[in-house]
Amino acid sequence: MTTTAEPTDAAATDGPADDARAHDDGDLLVDARGVKVHFPIKRGVVFDKVVGHVYAVDGVDLRIRKGETYGLVGESGCGKSTLGKAILGLEPPTDGSVVIDGTDVASLKGEELRKRRKDFQMVFQDPMSSLDPRQSVESLLVEGMKAHGLASDDKATASRLRELLKAVGLPAAALKKYPHEFSGGQRQRIGIARALAVEPKLIVADEPVSALDVSVQAQVINLLEDLQDEFELTYLVVAHDLAVVRHISDRIGVMYLGGLVEEAGADDLYAQPLHPYTRALLSAVPVPDPTREDEREQILLVGDLPSPSKPPPGCRFHTRCPWRQETRCDDERPQLRVLEIDGVPSSHRVACHWAEDIESGKIQPHHVDPTATEQDLREEQDAPHAVGDVEEAVQYQHGGHGAGS
Ligand SMILES: Nc1ncnc2c1ncn2[C@@H]1O[C@H](COP(=O)(O)OP(=O)(O)O)[C@@H](O)[C@H]1O
Ligand code: SF4
Ligand SMILES: [Mg+2]
Repeated sequence: MTTTAEPTDAAATDGPADDARAHDDGDLLVDARGVKVHFPIKRGVVFDKVVGHVYAVDGVDLRIRKGETYGLVGESGCGKSTLGKAILGLEPPTDGSVVIDGTDVASLKGEELRKRRKDFQMVFQDPMSSLDPRQSVESLLVEGMKAHGLASDDKATASRLRELLKAVGLPAAALKKYPHEFSGGQRQRIGIARALAVEPKLIVADEPVSALDVSVQAQVINLLEDLQDEFELTYLVVAHDLAVVRHISDRIGVMYLGGLVEEAGADDLYAQPLHPYTRALLSAVPVPDPTREDEREQILLVGDLPSPSKPPPGCRFHTRCPWRQETRCDDERPQLRVLEIDGVPSSHRVACHWAEDIESGKIQPHHVDPTATEQDLREEQDAPHAVGDVEEAVQYQHGGHGAGS
């Protein structure tokens, strides 16, 4: 593992949550700690000179219990797919560790890694580009089974293939067909069957329904849910759309520019979003009840997601946050922490310095001028920003970014 020259600030956890986790470690399937994935930005014709980094994932702690569905949401470009790949060992982390079912993924090499791969599978957004168009469905499904020694007996394989197709709701005749002969929803069913063929423990489904018609989305989500019970699966479901993960997830993590900003049980998160970014995301999801639709808080998310190669210092959301305060927000990166709010469980953690005061109404939202924030950001990103980063990094190494800050 290598660390980039410009370490950014802290990974995000605090004491009480760590204590809580110590009790359920036996149930953990995924234990990712302090995961960073920084992609070097290179320039130069003869020598590749590293001129910066894309801080795609920048200090994420994420734990998933066996049999659980963890929904990971956030705007496009915030690092969800990269985090999913890092968890599966498909993208080597720059820093941090990922332990799946007791094994550190980074320690697996060669044959051992190949064998363990069957335990964790990925279902992709666009089934058309992830399925080889020249292979029949049968060949697509058998390929993975053979690679893991699961297709040695022809009769057993044939019956397993029929079982798999039945499980994903496709007729046996589908085996002889090719991906282009199916609709988008059917192709995603094939993608799911292919992942299931090797009897995995964990499936990372990356935007599994984003490419599908809305009418088909619910069917595929329901299918994933049914399969979970049948095959005792654990899911990490990644989506930019909160509505997609709502019903399927037990817990949800909200990601913003490389870090988790809020994590809670799915019902808790929807009932009481506590991070300004989550509030904004949820206020954009329409509510079917017209009275509630009229009454609820509308928060407009202004401006674009800042570039992950120059994340704003302090709270990464401060350039767009309607509750931004003059102190702390611009220069102190908030940690995920348990809040001191009656009725909010310790499983509901939020990375905002002012979450309690925002919730009580003590701090009121204000107008955010997108042009001003872009200007601020440009100024911050020029000279002072680099100094801030170094200071923050030093502070962190000396334990200066304490819990509950
Ligand atoms: N292989 C790569 N090399 C360089 N930058 C990358 C690479 N993969 C992703 N990125 C960048 O990392 C950021 C996060 O990307 P991604 O994880 O795909 O976000 P999401 O899935 O949330 O849309 C983006 O800015 C993206 O351009
Ligand atoms: S820490 Fe400040 S800028 Fe960040 S979400 Fe909270 S109020 Fe907004
Ligand atoms: Mg993605």
